[in-house]
Amino acid sequence: MSAIQAVVFDAYGTLLDFHAAMARHAARLGPNWPQISADWRTKQTEYSWVRSLAGPAYHQDFWRLTQDSLAWVAARHGIADKALLADVLAAYHVLDAYPDAAAVLTALRDRGLGRAILSNGEPSMLAAAVGSANLTELLDAVISVEDAGVFKPDPRVYRLAERHFGLEAGQMAFISSNPWDAFGAQAHGFHVFWVNRSGQPTEYDLTGKVTEIGSLSALLGALV
Ligand code: LAC
Repeated sequence: MSAIQAVVFDAYGTLLDFHAAMARHAARLGPNWPQISADWRTKQTEYSWVRSLAGPAYHQDFWRLTQDSLAWVAARHGIADKALLADVLAAYHVLDAYPDAAAVLTALRDRGLGRAILSNGEPSMLAAAVGSANLTELLDAVISVEDAGVFKPDPRVYRLAERHFGLEAGQMAFISSNPWDAFGAQAHGFHVFWVNRSGQPTEYDLTGKVTEIGSLSALLGALV
């Protein structure tokens, strides 16, 4: 793995905790908020896959999908408070980074490795969240799928990282907490590190093909 010259990160769920948006308004959402947040994420990603499969005419950016999926989840869980929904949506621009994110990016920088985000996120929502989490200075680039007009795991998305660094996938590590993203990146040829914080079962035949780690900070020992 010494051939690795750059490290590419997924954003939502990997560096940024998307549950932080609803966690900030937990008291208003009620005790079921973790399930509501999980359902929001499930719908958001479902919309990204369906629109990618439907073709370019049906593409909408991830901010729009974040809004649409929140509207669905509000209807599903009987949340009618429009001000609360607006506040939850606004909180998506100021998500918390996972506590080890900055230290890991700093260590990778000190090792002389390139560092980028490659995310489904629409550029301005990404810029806001990455900035608010104080990660901007630690990254060489924040690459959005909007440059490809399709969502992960379409191969055209992963090519954006190759193009940015002028490297082949085999010269880069790809870090994601999303198994389906880890699968797509591995299929594309990256050295993949799957951040499995909560001990989820393996899927997509990842075992033996990717390196499973329990936290971002475990990357530093695994990436030798
Ligand atoms: C991203 C989502 C899929 O940042 O987590 O691309």
